[in-house]
Amino acid sequence: DPATGKLPLAVMIAAPRGFCAGVDRAIEIVEKAIEKYGAPVYVRHEIVHNRYVVDGLKEKGAIFVEELDEVPDDMPVVFSAHGVPKSVPAEAQRREMIYVDATCPLVSKVHRQAERQIEKGQHIIFIGHEGHPEVIGTMGQVPDGQMTLVETVEDVATLSFTAHDSLSFLTQTTLSVDDTAEIVQALQMRYPQIVAPKAEDICYATSNRQEAVKAMAPSCDLVLVIGAPNSSNSLRLVEVAERLGTDAKLIQRASELDPAWLEGVGTLGLTAGASAPEILVREVVAKLGEFREVSESTVKTADEKIIFKLPRQLTD
Ligand code: F3S
Repeated sequence: DPATGKLPLAVMIAAPRGFCAGVDRAIEIVEKAIEKYGAPVYVRHEIVHNRYVVDGLKEKGAIFVEELDEVPDDMPVVFSAHGVPKSVPAEAQRREMIYVDATCPLVSKVHRQAERQIEKGQHIIFIGHEGHPEVIGTMGQVPDGQMTLVETVEDVATLSFTAHDSLSFLTQTTLSVDDTAEIVQALQMRYPQIVAPKAEDICYATSNRQEAVKAMAPSCDLVLVIGAPNSSNSLRLVEVAERLGTDAKLIQRASELDPAWLEGVGTLGLTAGASAPEILVREVVAKLGEFREVSESTVKTADEKIIFKLPRQLTD
């Protein structure tokens, strides 16, 4: 631009991006719980993996803790969108606490499938990332030793089950669609008898966000993903772009944007993980505008209209 002296930058913004229905619902649950029970309301684990969201809720009166034993008996507590092992609501009940479960309904669906598979006498192979709260929550739906975690195709080769064992598999909701397909294929090769879930466990929001990055990344010199380093679905978006040969970076806020990254970049792709609010997308676009003459466009690959109901205890 001759007036500003700034080089042009085409910014492609992926759609869908950002908040999914489960994150929307979880945040609303905390807000409604504060309205109903009064501040403070405790939240076990980051309600969703985003610092901006967590800080906003702290200001409204939420107190974040990692474990239930940090919550006094007479205080209401919300369980995060990622889900919790069965032992957690059981303990809350034993202590006669008021609790609200913000587990995403699509995670709860996986939990119920796990129960059913165990009832049928199947041992479950669970595909997921060790240590992620959703994995801890889902594995905690069944008695110890009845679910085995695999993270990679290589892990499948180390399993010691036989072709006669009754097996089924389930997955985390926020995995890479492509990696998971490979792991499932490896499982089915080794264990042709393995029972698949009724429908894909990877959720609509995860697969839609990956699809949009796939459509956008080949035209981009750099892809920025707004999300937290502990956000599984955000990390997967970085990988999707990188696999298509496009540099990609995960950033939490516009302040992390390094202008040196923009050297030689004419087209930049922008997306946000399922726990990142749209305001952070606007913040990054504004920051880019400080260095470049930005023109925005949208790359839309799906429409999302899903909304989840709030728990009845907050709507009565
Ligand atoms: Fe639920 Fe998927 Fe969001 S499992 S919380 S809709 S990323």
